[in-house]
Amino acid sequence: MILVTGGAGFIGANFVLDWLAGSDEPVVNLDKLTYAGNLHNLDGLKGDARHIFVQGDIGDSALVERLLAEHRPRAIVNFAAESHVDRSIHGPEDFIHTNVVGTFRLLEAARHYWSALPATEKEAFRFLHVSTDEVYGTLAPAAPAFTEDHRVEPNSPYSASKAASDHLVRAWHHTYGLPVLTTNCSNNYGPLHFPEKLIPLMIVNALAGKGLPVYGDGMQIRDWLYVRDHCSAIRRVLEAGRLGETYNVGGWNEKPNIDIVKTICALLDELRPRADGEKYASQVIYVKDRPGHDRRYAIDARKIERELGWKPAETFDTGIRKTVQWYLDNPDWVANVQSGAYRDWVAKQYEAA
Ligand code: NAD
Ligand code: TYD
Repeated sequence: MILVTGGAGFIGANFVLDWLAGSDEPVVNLDKLTYAGNLHNLDGLKGDARHIFVQGDIGDSALVERLLAEHRPRAIVNFAAESHVDRSIHGPEDFIHTNVVGTFRLLEAARHYWSALPATEKEAFRFLHVSTDEVYGTLAPAAPAFTEDHRVEPNSPYSASKAASDHLVRAWHHTYGLPVLTTNCSNNYGPLHFPEKLIPLMIVNALAGKGLPVYGDGMQIRDWLYVRDHCSAIRRVLEAGRLGETYNVGGWNEKPNIDIVKTICALLDELRPRADGEKYASQVIYVKDRPGHDRRYAIDARKIERELGWKPAETFDTGIRKTVQWYLDNPDWVANVQSGAYRDWVAKQYEAA
């Protein structure tokens, strides 16, 4: 079996669902259920004995050690994190607790468990750390995409905390020999994405007749990957990645934010036209930019393709259409996540918009 952390969040839940759709190997899912964790993401696994959910913190060493001793996983896949840049600007401390201290404690628990394993299990054990392209900082317009050798130059509290966790993972391999793998992926999108992030926020705001808040000039570039392609990359790295290596994951889909917003509007115009005949793009509003906003991210995904033969299955056009359709088909999921805490966040972040 494998231990997944953060498996009630956006990517983690997609990963657990895909894993159990393709394999009978059980998953222990350790998630603190912060505002971003949602057990409804895992409704499809209700009553499925292959999925064992445990509410708890990766920083709770006693709990993690107990879970490892009890379930004896062959791998840990660490998704658990505070993940939203804007929240990290308002309140960085949770990011340090979970992303830095939490990863440290998880590594220590993994090390103690792994070092006591019998030789064959010890050999086969893996600790896969899920990270982000944001650790590399920002790119000039014509600069080549991030390779794994790019300098680590994080600019936000979020990316700095993720970079710190990547360094810890690396050090636990070099110093203690822990068999680690790290993936640094570009921006994900798809089903179950919490609507504080650009793509789901634009879809739910558009449908609710609200403003579509574009930061600054909307010309910041992100490199988008459909979430299930990220999950397939993680499975592939877990299966065949070289120990101690970092693999960049991306789909060669660089787009300025304003293009993303316009694409979503056009899809909604087609799939769920506004009752008044107006275009959704009329809801776009330009708002104050994010402090320290990185201008451009782009992933060079040649290493994972060359070494492990991984390629994304979706293009941006197919992935974004599936995503918009998923939000149209799942109004109950959307209503459920738009709780009081969500409304408080939206009021705080967009009050001046
Ligand atoms: P998310 O915020 O949707 O989910 C994070 C999950 O972790 C939630 O279920 C939350 O309850 C859980 N969690 C938070 N703190 C915890 C703790 N201390 N102990 C246990 N569980 C805890 O995030 P996501 O978008 O699914 O991202 C998952 C991982 O992938 C993160 O490590 C993130 O840095 C990385 N990543 C995300 C993206 C992206 O575009 N979303 C891109 C690249 C990498
Ligand atoms: P986000 O989804 O927060 O991901 P990240 O900051 O980790 O890349 O934001 C993606 C891009 O969209 C980023 O350049 C910020 C921008 N953005 C907006 O313009 N408006 C918004 O309301 C949000 C949430 C993001």
